[in-house]
Amino acid sequence: MTTSPTPDLPACDAETFRHVVGHLPSGVTVVTTRTPQAAFGMTASSVTSLSLSPPMMLACLNKSSPTSAAVARAGAYAVNVLGQGHEHLAQQFAVRSDRKFAGVEVVDGALGLPLLADALAHIECEVVEEVTGGTHRVFLGRVVGATAARGTPLTYFRGGFGRFEFARDDAVYQRARQQLLERMYGADTVIQLDDLTHQLQVERPAAFYALTRLTADGLVRRDPDRGYVIVPFDTRTSDETFEARCAIELGVIDMVVGRVVPAELAELRSRFEEMAALLVGDRFVDFDRYLDANYAFHEALVSLAHNPALTAAFGRLSIKTVMTRSFGVTPVTSQAFIDAQRQLTEGIEQGAATGARAGVYRYTDLAKRRVREILAQTGGQL
Ligand SMILES: Cc1cc2nc3c(=O)[nH]c(=O)nc-3n(C[C@H](O)[C@H](O)[C@H](O)COP(=O)(O)O)c2cc1C
Repeated sequence: MTTSPTPDLPACDAETFRHVVGHLPSGVTVVTTRTPQAAFGMTASSVTSLSLSPPMMLACLNKSSPTSAAVARAGAYAVNVLGQGHEHLAQQFAVRSDRKFAGVEVVDGALGLPLLADALAHIECEVVEEVTGGTHRVFLGRVVGATAARGTPLTYFRGGFGRFEFARDDAVYQRARQQLLERMYGADTVIQLDDLTHQLQVERPAAFYALTRLTADGLVRRDPDRGYVIVPFDTRTSDETFEARCAIELGVIDMVVGRVVPAELAELRSRFEEMAALLVGDRFVDFDRYLDANYAFHEALVSLAHNPALTAAFGRLSIKTVMTRSFGVTPVTSQAFIDAQRQLTEGIEQGAATGARAGVYRYTDLAKRRVREILAQTGGQL
């Protein structure tokens, strides 16, 4: 049944719709087909399963696309589900070109359709119905063959590619990280994948995922001979990091105070408030969120200099790792950290370099002392 739109109902404008619908995450596929003349393929996320009995899929392809016209002519299409690391394929098949398949390994499917050999899954369909919706043809397809390989999918969200993560794998990583921060493993100890699997009572891939993320955090490093090794952490490491940040921030203050535009001051203030809300009394409300907010605040400060080299130098300081390995060990902290960062913020807002500099020195000193206290409670090294 087709009905006409109700005339007096308001319509959502295309720009708003594009923005809002971008919040619906999807997988990424390449829809392929073959005519007697050539092979065709296009990146498509408007693809979904339709019915289980009988097995059916649907694909929504723009009428103006040559691939869409080719599917209509061929009466068949294959859905190639892309996996993590296939961004290049998604990009290659999203631009009109005669060389879509260049460098891409292809195998023939049961219907003679070109299948991307590396795809995570292949679903071959015979078109049983074609309907039109707005600018698109909607191809309803009867599934004639489907295969899947192991792996994780590529995802698409708000105009960018991302990766899929099982909530259960994240929970395993969080547990492993907590154990590491609580010194269940000594500095420089080797963690074997099998031991971690056994000790956490999880599947090997989940333990491997945890180790990979701990390596990215800088808590563990991959030694080519020994395997995964706990990175030692001591006051020298943290002093160096906090002093380097102090030097960068003092330099930024000297460069910018008195010249910061209102929009940037408002941004700095809002990042400060977001951070301050996550440290109440002398406790972190949620350490991980505080860590992100603290980083965002200091990054906003450094970026006031509009100097990409300086912002990059700040990014290389491993501030998050140092803070995780020290402050992240306990929810107990001090409101004095917020006071010092407020003094810094107010100094910049008021164009008072001396006040801002004093805030930076005070914050750095507090951080160095707090790491010493935590390390003293845990025997001098984590
Ligand atoms: C992530 C992503 C998803 C896309 N999804 C669709 C889709 O579902 N339907 C569509 O018609 N175009 C979609 N496109 C756009 C087409 O891939 C693009 O227009 C391509 O050039 C079409 O190929 P062709 O014109 O050579 O046939 C998507 C593009 C990207 C990057």
